Amino acid sequence: MAAMPCRIESTAEPRSTTAEAPRPLPEALAWIEDEMLAIRSAGLERPHRRREGRQGAEVRLDGRTLLNFGSNDYLGYAGDVRLTRAASKGSCAEGFGAGASPLVSGHSRAHEALERAIARFLGVEAALVFPSGFAANTATIAALVGPDDFIASDSLNHASIIDGCRLARARVGVYPHRDLIALSALLDSARGARRRLIVTDTLFSMDGTIAPLAGLCDVARTRRAMVLVDEAHATGVFGDRGSGLVEQTGTADGVHVRVGTLSKALGAAGGFVAGGERLIQWLRHTARAWIFSTAHPPGVAAAATRAIGLVEQEPDRRVGLRGRADDFASRLRRAGLDIGGTESQIVPIIAGEPAAAVALSEQLAAAGFFVPAIRPPSVPRGRSLVRASLSWLHDEPDLRRLAAALAAHAR
Ligand SMILES: Cc1ncc(COP(=O)(O)O)c(C=O)c1O
Repeated sequence: MAAMPCRIESTAEPRSTTAEAPRPLPEALAWIEDEMLAIRSAGLERPHRRREGRQGAEVRLDGRTLLNFGSNDYLGYAGDVRLTRAASKGSCAEGFGAGASPLVSGHSRAHEALERAIARFLGVEAALVFPSGFAANTATIAALVGPDDFIASDSLNHASIIDGCRLARARVGVYPHRDLIALSALLDSARGARRRLIVTDTLFSMDGTIAPLAGLCDVARTRRAMVLVDEAHATGVFGDRGSGLVEQTGTADGVHVRVGTLSKALGAAGGFVAGGERLIQWLRHTARAWIFSTAHPPGVAAAATRAIGLVEQEPDRRVGLRGRADDFASRLRRAGLDIGGTESQIVPIIAGEPAAAVALSEQLAAAGFFVPAIRPPSVPRGRSLVRASLSWLHDEPDLRRLAAALAAHAR
């Protein structure tokens, strides 16, 4: 589906310059050469791509136009001119930069409106906006638990949750992916801890699976553990109102802390935490990435508020996306491809070793599709994959063509 045209004048592209060879490293940094060599020899060097223009169903990367299956723009709002307009209006009203931490003077009317919109959208008392979802996770986990406490964390949780656990300096027990029996045993083994916290993605970003939220909340309830969930990939896509998997599974009463991002289906930027007013008040006093980091630009907050309105007004997008994702996954399974246990718009095609995933991604690019290779440490060893992130912008013929290309190359 074609994106709406953007009528805002764009500035001229800088003339491309030929890349100069990097200068040799100073002696004190020479160790970087050895470490990079090790990364290269393990087949784990990461490309640094350049995108040109707005993204949509297609993306122009490093001079090639490809069908875009490598973005979290699930509802097609990232390139939507309605967000651009809201951002411009917000920036004109409040200036571009926030200028200070929200605690000092960075919290603008646009941020206030966004926090109210998030709270209403999720049906909770209050919300707090962070410069990124990554910061929201790290700061919130470290504000809830400390060295005398225990965290139970799913083995496939996102890096920002893992880093939040490290920052908290709590004892961490990692339970096998979605294994509620192991989770219960872990919590029981930590009865002496001052506080116990369960942390999980609701929709796992690498394999497209969904956390067993109802069972997880039961486990927490019987053990008086806190529950923090990260709805980064579910916001906008799941739930009748589009607010995520907590809504879809009816687990709002059992989930104490909801973290999310404004940067994926909402097409904007920033992260949030939502829950009870008292919880949010606690975070305003303790969440260091909120206290000690400049608020994100007011125009970005205005765009995110607009995106929440669009999610509410345009349910067809999430319904259409989920239906097409189900059909796509069935088609790949019928073709005999290993796509793990995906239940969502995130469809991994397991390739095994890093080199196999990179080769598959390159073959798909040659056939006109951007489907990035995902390798350790983003996924466990031996489980490198290419990840197709589906968007409402993809139509049936796009998905049929990708399925055919995967069937031809992923063997
Ligand atoms: C599960 C999960 N949580 C948090 C984040 C961080 O969100 P943000 O991109 O807003 O920093 C991401 C994204 O990259 C993610 O996949």
